[in-house]
Amino acid sequence: MADTPIISIKHVTKRYPGVVALDDVSVDIRQGELHSICGENGAGKSTLMKILSGVITEYDGQIEVRGESVNFRGTRDAEACGLSIIHQELNLVEELSAAANVFLGREHTSSLGLLNNRKMNAETSELLKQLECDVHPQAIAGSLRVGDQQLLEIAKALSLNSEILIMDEPTSALTESEVERLYRVIDHLREKGVTILYISHKMDEVFRLSDRITVLRDGKLVKTLEKEETTPREITHLMVGREIEEIDLGDSRQVGDVVLEVNNLSLPWPGHARAWRLKEISFELRRGEILGIAGLMGAGRTELLECLFGASEETPAGKVLLENQLVRFRNPNEAKRAGVAMVTEDRKRLGIFAQMCVRENISMCTLEETVTSGVISRKKEAEIVDDSVARLSVKTAGPESSITSLSGGNQQKTIIGRWLLTKPKVLLLDDPTRGVDVGAKAELYRLMDQLCREGIAIILTSSELPELLTVSDRILVLAEGRMTAEFDRSEASEAAIMEAATESALPHG
Ligand SMILES: Nc1ncnc2c1ncn2[C@@H]1O[C@H](COP(=O)(O)OP(=O)(O)OP(=O)(O)O)[C@@H](O)[C@H]1O
Ligand SMILES: [Mg+2]
Repeated sequence: MADTPIISIKHVTKRYPGVVALDDVSVDIRQGELHSICGENGAGKSTLMKILSGVITEYDGQIEVRGESVNFRGTRDAEACGLSIIHQELNLVEELSAAANVFLGREHTSSLGLLNNRKMNAETSELLKQLECDVHPQAIAGSLRVGDQQLLEIAKALSLNSEILIMDEPTSALTESEVERLYRVIDHLREKGVTILYISHKMDEVFRLSDRITVLRDGKLVKTLEKEETTPREITHLMVGREIEEIDLGDSRQVGDVVLEVNNLSLPWPGHARAWRLKEISFELRRGEILGIAGLMGAGRTELLECLFGASEETPAGKVLLENQLVRFRNPNEAKRAGVAMVTEDRKRLGIFAQMCVRENISMCTLEETVTSGVISRKKEAEIVDDSVARLSVKTAGPESSITSLSGGNQQKTIIGRWLLTKPKVLLLDDPTRGVDVGAKAELYRLMDQLCREGIAIILTSSELPELLTVSDRILVLAEGRMTAEFDRSEASEAAIMEAATESALPHG
């Protein structure tokens, strides 16, 4: 039948100890549509997608694909049925090459059973080319930046030629230009008739791509709507169940004296044609100030923050003064001790400690504060942790829950909470709101503003320009490792920033 839904989700319930992740959810997905799933952090979006793709096999209720009841025992079963998923928390094997990751578990072999590397490399190259990504098929996955890793996950899903593709926040680590690329790929897939289930916290994206939108709240289905018949405002309202206040920050904030001075900071890039990751960057940062760093993928935003945090592989040249003292951090510990904290963009690799619980993940950097005469005060620790969880509204069954049991956005909030507790002089935030829902974003902006009022200075990068424009007092623009512009809050605009960000740093002619 033409109008049999390609997927029918019927009364699906998924319980975890202390949490009902999905509560009697029923949704039909139409053949060939792009169906977005929206909801706050912890609403149950990823859980539903993991059930559909065979990652989660224990649940109540029924899934039908093309009218037939299915019971996937693993992702292979789902793939055989034409369903594949691009995970939110990237699932690459870090030690393996790009090509090996794409073909993991279904490697091309010769008639003698030997790996056909040439074929796998060629196909990987082709897929990455479609994504306009210039990563080499033999590059080790773990050495790639998050944005490239995300493209690699996408390449992997494309290689399966699935009829139904699930994308769980595919753009969260991509920059504007990469997002445009992904849209082109999505358009192409849709022309081929691929059905897409799409999760995103970005309303502009949801409204640009979707045919229909389903909203989940606290594991329950709120509503499925035709895109044409709704608005971003309505969706947001359905997601959070209340109005989100407009935020207007910074205007009345007092900016103090210089806390950080960066002079001619350069970072070499051995073996690369450009020879530097950062070139002669100079700026000042004042107490109470939020300095935004804009730039395209590869412009050097993360590198700059890493450099200031003592986390770069190469030794930087130039001078950094913290409170008028020359500093040269050899590692993040030294930076931390001096009062510099950093929230990284790559929470899986550098941020969360997967084997620890929520409490430990939050308090690990502040344990000294909870120590009285050599003994950790569990009571003090519990207070600090509870306060942090409440301030950022981290959704968790409790502080002893494993961090990996939290939804993606809630893991991110936990890490931010950890670093805020260290009461740094300078806080470096590398794309902190990646994957964080609208309500929590507003919370986070408010918290940043509050910290600045307490005299902390913040350097922030973001993959979303409107966000930078909302919260920054000043914005520096990087292009190819150089600083190409500096804007005051009042003069900054998306157009002006984009122009400076695409300016080639190399002299022409
Ligand atoms: N393995 C697990 N063990 C225990 N609880 C879990 C587990 N996985 C998910 N949960 C809980 O189920 C709920 C839904 O999580 P899910 O990951 O589906 O949220 P989400 O909508 O994808 O959120 P986000 O936008 O933050 O990614 C959360 O409260 C989460 O803590
Ligand atoms: Mg999720």
